[in-house]
Amino acid sequence: MLALPVQPADGVEPVELADSAGPDTGGRAARPAGHTTASRRAGHTTASRRAGHTTAEPVDGLDLAALLEQEAFAGSAGEVLAVPLQSGQGPHKLLLFGVAKAAPSDLRSAGAALARRARDSASLVVDVRSLALEGPALRALVEGLLLASYAFSRASAPKDRPLQEVVLVGPVGLQADLDAAVVVATATAAARDLVNTPSLEKTPQWLAEQAGALLHGLTVSVLDERALAKRGFGGIVGVGQGSTRPPRLIEAVYDGGGSRHVVLVGKGITFDTGGLSLKPNDGMLAMKTDMGGAAAVLATLRAVADLQLPIKVTVLAAAAENMPSGSAQRPGDVLTQYGGRTVEVLNTDAEGRLVLADALAYADAELDPDVLVDVATLTGAMPVALGKRHAGLFASSDELAAQLEEASLASGEPLWRMPLVEDYRVALDSPVADLRNIGQPKLKLQGGSITAALFLREFTGGRPWAHLDIAGPGRSGADTDELTKGGTGYGVRLLTAWLVALAAQPGPKRSRPRLSRRSA
Ligand code: BES
Ligand code: MN
Ligand code: ZN
Repeated sequence: MLALPVQPADGVEPVELADSAGPDTGGRAARPAGHTTASRRAGHTTASRRAGHTTAEPVDGLDLAALLEQEAFAGSAGEVLAVPLQSGQGPHKLLLFGVAKAAPSDLRSAGAALARRARDSASLVVDVRSLALEGPALRALVEGLLLASYAFSRASAPKDRPLQEVVLVGPVGLQADLDAAVVVATATAAARDLVNTPSLEKTPQWLAEQAGALLHGLTVSVLDERALAKRGFGGIVGVGQGSTRPPRLIEAVYDGGGSRHVVLVGKGITFDTGGLSLKPNDGMLAMKTDMGGAAAVLATLRAVADLQLPIKVTVLAAAAENMPSGSAQRPGDVLTQYGGRTVEVLNTDAEGRLVLADALAYADAELDPDVLVDVATLTGAMPVALGKRHAGLFASSDELAAQLEEASLASGEPLWRMPLVEDYRVALDSPVADLRNIGQPKLKLQGGSITAALFLREFTGGRPWAHLDIAGPGRSGADTDELTKGGTGYGVRLLTAWLVALAAQPGPKRSRPRLSRRSA
C-alpha cells in the first residue's frame, strides 16, 4: 500500500539513529542500538515540506498536495500533519512535517515536533533525502529528535513509553555528523538525569559517584570535607557545613593533546535552601536543579572525550548542600577562600559564588588554564533580566565572548552578553574582610547578576574567563521544542560546540610559564 520510500534507494542507506533505554531506568537517554532497516519496522513514516514546495512523494490513494492544501499546512518549522494509513503490517501513520527554510534551527524544531508526535509509537522513520541536508542541519534535526524524546520519571508505573527507535534515511556521507549529534544528545540527556534526580538521593557524594560512572575511562578525583578543610577550600566548606551530607570537590580530566588547556567550573549545589538566610517554600521548589552548572560541565567532558577532541579539558564541580542547622554558617561570618582571601558572608543564600570562588582560585593557582569558563544557576535576577531561554554571558575577554556567541548560534542554546560594570565593584567592598558576598544594599545599585559576576572575577587571576549564569535556561517549565520539562542540560551543546571549534584552531604552546595573580 505504501509507496513512500523507506527502503534504501540507490546509493542511500537507511541509518540507524538511536533508541531509548528500557523503562527500568529513571531517566531515559537516547542511545545507539543495533542496526535495523526501515523496512522491517512498522511505525511512523514521514515526508517533508518546505514553505510553498511539497517534497513528499506520492502515496497510493492519497493526494498529499491536496491534503496539505485542505489542512492549510504552511510548512513552518515544527508543524506536523498526521495522516492515518490503512496498512496491515506497514507504517500506521504518515507524518508530514514543515521545515520552513530548512536552517539548522528549523530542523531542530522539526525534529522535536516529530519526536513528540511519534511518542505513542515504537519506531519512527524519518526520510530526509529530499531535503539535501548538510552537516549542521542534519545534526540539529537529530538533536531535536533525540532531545525531545527524553523522559524522566520516578512514577511506580511508566505513564508513557516514549519513542524507542528512530531510523533516519539519508545520505551515508553524513555519518560523522550523525554520530556527533548522538554523542551530544546523549551527554545532554545525562546532564538532565543529574538535574532531575530529587535531592533526597542527590548528595554531593552521590554527584561524585555519578561523575565517576559518567566519566569512565577518564581521571576523576574527589576531595572530601576533610581534604577540603585541610587545603583551604573555605567557601565550599562554609556552604556545606550546615548539612549532614558533606561537600565534595570533583575534578575530572580529559587530555586529548593539542595546545590548549581549558578549565570548566560548575556550580554543584545539590539543594539550595538558602541556608540560615532561608528561602520561602516557593523559592525552594526548583532548588534540586541548583547543580545544573556542574551537570553541564561534567556531561560536556563526556561529549569531548567521546568526540576525541585534540584538547585538554579539566572539569571542576564544586558540590555542597546549602542547609540551615546548628552547624550552618551565619550571616556575618567571615570565611577564607582557597588561596587566602577573606569574604564576609552577609547572605548565606548567595552561596554559589562562594563555592565557585574556591574552584576558580584553585584552577588559577594549580592548573594553569589558558581559558576558564564557569557555568552556574547563580542569580534569580538573571531570568528577570533575560527571561527563561537565554543564559547571561559575562566575559573578561571579547575574543572568548565572540567564540561563545558563535557556538551559541551553532548549537541553538541562546545567550546574551552582559556587562561587567566596573562602577559596581565598590558594592563588594567589606569593612572587615577582602570582599562581601552580596552587593551593599545601601548603594542601591541593583544588578545582582552583575555584582555576582564581579565577585567571581576576583578569583580568576586575570585569565581569559567567561561566566554563564544559567538560572533561567537551566530548567524548563514545559516541553517546548527540544527542551523537556525540568532540567534542560543547558550548556552541554553550547560548550561542546565551542570546544569543537577551539580544538580545530591552531593555538598557543601548552604550559607557557605564567605567574598567577594572588590578590585582587
Ligand atoms: N540558586 C540561587 C539562584 C537561582 C534562583 C537559580 C532561582 C535558579 C532560580 C542562588 O543561590 C541564590 O539564591 N541567589 C540569590 C542571591 C541573593 C541572595 C544575592 C538570589 O538570586 O536571590
Ligand atoms: Mn542561594
Ligand atoms: Zn544557589
